[in-house]
Amino acid sequence: MARRPGLDRRTFLRGAGASALLSAAGVKPARGASLANPMLGGQEQVFDFDEVYDRFGTMCTKWDGAVQDMGVPIEVGMGVADLDFRAAPCITRALAERCEHEVWGYLRRPSEYSEAVAEWNDRRYGLEVDPGRLVWTTGVHPALIAALQTFAPPGSRVLMTTPVYSGFYTDLRFTRTVTEDSPMVMVDGRYEIDFDDFEQRAARSHVFILCNPHNPTGNVWSEEDLLRKGEICLRHRVVVLSDEIHCDFLNSGSSYTPFAALPDREIVDNSLTFKAASKSFNLAGMKVSWWFTTNRDYEARTRSNTRADLPTLGLAANHAALTEGEPWLDQAVAYLDGNQDFVASYIREKLPSVKYRKAQGTYLAWLDMSEVFEAVDAERLAREASESTGRNVSPEDIVQTWVAENASVFLSPGDVYGAGGSGFMRMNLGTQRGRIQLAVDNIAAAVAAL
Ligand SMILES: Cc1ncc(COP(=O)(O)O)c(C=O)c1O
Repeated sequence: MARRPGLDRRTFLRGAGASALLSAAGVKPARGASLANPMLGGQEQVFDFDEVYDRFGTMCTKWDGAVQDMGVPIEVGMGVADLDFRAAPCITRALAERCEHEVWGYLRRPSEYSEAVAEWNDRRYGLEVDPGRLVWTTGVHPALIAALQTFAPPGSRVLMTTPVYSGFYTDLRFTRTVTEDSPMVMVDGRYEIDFDDFEQRAARSHVFILCNPHNPTGNVWSEEDLLRKGEICLRHRVVVLSDEIHCDFLNSGSSYTPFAALPDREIVDNSLTFKAASKSFNLAGMKVSWWFTTNRDYEARTRSNTRADLPTLGLAANHAALTEGEPWLDQAVAYLDGNQDFVASYIREKLPSVKYRKAQGTYLAWLDMSEVFEAVDAERLAREASESTGRNVSPEDIVQTWVAENASVFLSPGDVYGAGGSGFMRMNLGTQRGRIQLAVDNIAAAVAAL
């Protein structure tokens, strides 16, 4: 696939000395990282993910939102799925360069953006995507909503294997569709699909939302698993919406199979795939994502429900990430894999009342804290709080508050992830290892004091 020439203005500005512009824009080089080319004299640039980066006061959900929600000081925010790392320097450079041009009018979207996405998918996952048929949106949520509006009329059922990403339930509420939760089963600390249950529920559903890798349980689905789900959906005329936003976060030993790469044309033709660089490069606030399908009918129908005007800075950031950001991403993924190892062994050795088996993918840890729930008497406290406030307070809410008050850590409550989430809490490991150490030390001390 031929690549179009780069943006002239960027090339010129880089030649003119990006660091001068960046310092004018108040951008500092990351410690251990130059803002120059990603390849330093033939050697790959090394990024410092241990560098503590303070996000308080930036209106971010993960830290500022945690303090607001809990009403107590939070030392480690481990909620919403984003990263606390300084962005890849190529992104900061591209944004600073674009800001030098101080006009923010309507934007054209040259084909080089779609080509960057297609080349990324080809290079990284061996997946052929036709750049002319990519559909851009301002996030995976608006795209999923467009697809749900296309294939699942209000009142119809949407199949999901649970526990699953809580945001899907918001999309269902928005489209007035009804959840059909198929609870997964735990085998040796790893979730598996209950295929009999899945098929029964597929028979009465319009759409299946697949999450690969699976948030929050961290499953990276095998080709065999995907084919089996895909075959059942095809047989029952259930459209597969494959959300693969976490696909870059593979922990050691895991490999990712894009649904669109399955070796069965009919199964692939029965699906749409939703992707973004927003998890990979921590660009959630930049509001850019894309979807594609090999099925022209599905594409035309879903396009007719899709409208997206993309942000200028979002496109600049995404283009830089996809064309220059791979060394940063590879090192971030390796660092996060190390975080997963650290937490799994810490819990095994020092927090035996919590159960956790290292996730295959994602930087999320899905913790079975049911023993802590019992020790805290969370069921009773939830019942009493619900009665006295008239709100529905869950045992998971109680444990979330307990962890915040006693360990100064923000965790996400498991019940929001659908059937099977009771007794679990989700911990986001997308942060510096020193902060993770502080969080697990604090939780271990609070549990020991129970
Ligand atoms: C599986 C999954 N899909 C979608 C999203 C959100 O996507 P976006 O921010 O592009 O709407 C998230 C965010 O955590 C997620 O985990």
